[in-house]
Amino acid sequence: MRRELPVDKKRIAFLASGRGSNFQAVADAVAAGDIPGICAGLVTDNPGAYAIERAKNAGIPVTVVDYARFPSRAAYEEALLAAMRGCRADLFVLAGYMRILGAGIVREFSGRMMNIHPALLPAFSGLHAQRQAIEYGVKVAGCTVHLVDEGMDTGPIIVQRCVPVLPDDDETTLADRILAEEHEALPLAVKLFCEDRLEVDGRRVRVR
Ligand code: GRF
Repeated sequence: MRRELPVDKKRIAFLASGRGSNFQAVADAVAAGDIPGICAGLVTDNPGAYAIERAKNAGIPVTVVDYARFPSRAAYEEALLAAMRGCRADLFVLAGYMRILGAGIVREFSGRMMNIHPALLPAFSGLHAQRQAIEYGVKVAGCTVHLVDEGMDTGPIIVQRCVPVLPDDDETTLADRILAEEHEALPLAVKLFCEDRLEVDGRRVRVR
């Protein structure tokens, strides 16, 4: 009888502020056995985030750190960090987390925190990336999964996927086309991390 070798499963946790479709894409890939990991928890700053329903449906623990209930950004970040530590995660995935993380949190999770951004970085960082792409008139757009550093959308790039920008596109149609790629790019990047296949050399991330 052939025995399966025990797989060292990584604990994957998520930070999300809204719809949570990227979170769902990773959770589905984990549930399907495509990623050697377990979903350790979802932390959100928004008690109204649809991501919460998704996590509950998938049996993934949820912690709400409601930004509005804290007297200062520092107090919020302290509670957020405590919630993040509580997940005991090997990897933190920012899946539509809509706030800037403080430097202390970024440093603590350095090398094990990734973000998905709906543009081909370094173009169109920050908010409304798809709108920026339409307004600039680019012919190709896409998404980027990158490690998180202290800058805004500036960390080393793990995976990028591109899509055409069509003549009749508006922000919504382009965002939908990019989102379909995000749902493949993010699970792929998480899988590579969980398989210990990412090697970071300065700005470059090599896949072993
Ligand atoms: C995605 O477009 C992601 O790239 C950006 O925020 C959006 C989140 O969508 N950071 P969802 O919450 O994962 O559906």
